[in-house]
Amino acid sequence: MKSLVNKNILLGVTGGIAAYKSAEIVRHLKKSGSAVRVIMTKSAEEFITPLTLQALSGNRVSTDLLDVESEAAMGHIELAKWADAILIAPATANTIAKLSSGRGDDLLSTTTLAFDGPVSLAPAMNQTMWRDDRTQENLEKLKTKEFKIFGPGSGEQACGDIGLGRMLEPLEILQLFSSSFNQEEMSGKSILITAGPTQEPIDPVRYITNRSSGKMGYSLAEAAIQSGAEVTLISGPVHIDPPEKCNFIPIETAVEMYEAVMHHIKGKDVYIGTAAVADYSPANFNESKIKKEESSSSLTLELQKNRDILKSVSKLANRPYVVGFAAETDDLLDNAEKKLINKGLDLIIANDVSNKEIGFDSDDNEVTLITTTEKKYLEKQNKKKISKKIIEFISLAVTN
Ligand SMILES: Cc1cc2nc3c(=O)[nH]c(=O)nc-3n(C[C@H](O)[C@H](O)[C@H](O)COP(=O)(O)O)c2cc1C
Repeated sequence: MKSLVNKNILLGVTGGIAAYKSAEIVRHLKKSGSAVRVIMTKSAEEFITPLTLQALSGNRVSTDLLDVESEAAMGHIELAKWADAILIAPATANTIAKLSSGRGDDLLSTTTLAFDGPVSLAPAMNQTMWRDDRTQENLEKLKTKEFKIFGPGSGEQACGDIGLGRMLEPLEILQLFSSSFNQEEMSGKSILITAGPTQEPIDPVRYITNRSSGKMGYSLAEAAIQSGAEVTLISGPVHIDPPEKCNFIPIETAVEMYEAVMHHIKGKDVYIGTAAVADYSPANFNESKIKKEESSSSLTLELQKNRDILKSVSKLANRPYVVGFAAETDDLLDNAEKKLINKGLDLIIANDVSNKEIGFDSDDNEVTLITTTEKKYLEKQNKKKISKKIIEFISLAVTN
């Protein structure tokens, strides 16, 4: 179940007999490489102890909506932001009804309401409860909201009845859950991404550079790989490891980045320029270290302009879909729109680098995607999630 590797999975456990099977689900999720956090309803705690699920998941189990220990006492928001997907297994008729009507009167229903991502349910209940019109109507409503429903199965029930309502076996649930991630919308597409800063040497021990951690470009590369694309990542020096499955090309200077991009761009479907490429480099490289002059209080460096990689790519014949980033401190959207037009891009992603909570070294970002016909705002969330949404947006443009 490769699609579950490195995923943050929030498992909701509700109050049904099948709750004991959620221990097995946690074990399978962990074995598949996911990080797991568990929310239990009050009723669920009557069927299985939080301690069991805490020991298996390796994380504290959350049970209370009002959690003074969580950051800002808003555990539901933290958990919703953390999760890549929510799986509720078993899902009782009661919780299904709550989710369907949008109620938030406990931690699980409130977190699910605050979560902007895929939710899967494995219903488990007595066959009469399952057949009831209200349960079926609630499920239909949830399907229209793109909730995925796994099962239930049929057979002898804990209460002695025979019929539909048994929760699927943990492994069956895991297989369905895992394949729900396998939406490889960029399968067959190849993407070239640049990331990190460039370093422009002044002498053997000094250089000028731009601030860039590489996190945004690397997480876009990861999201693109997960969407099935073949990814080439050209990166300046950063302190993070590149994703395993990409063609990784390390460079240092703006000139090296330009050459690497021009060498690898042929045949690519998408180009995403996240690198903070130096606009200027020292005109002359000093072969030996520049000494500090006691008699002079200043040093003048002559800088020369580097070639504009983004503009060069968008001017190519048979150009790919070209995506740029606008890291701005003032007039964010206006400046980004100007850059979109001036550089002939298909999409520009505007982010406000004057806000210390997002951009540069931060794990979070908040961006606006701008094309000539559309503006889409993505609220503050971790770069992993933002990247996934950006890749989804690009895939709609290049696969339609
Ligand atoms: C022994 C026992 C077993 C139960 N099993 C189920 C079940 O399998 N499915 C279900 O929907 N409700 C079941 N219930 C009823 C739920 O526990 C009840 O509706 C509860 O309010 C659900 O709360 P929750 O959805 O917040 O977990 C059971 C109740 C008891 C006492």
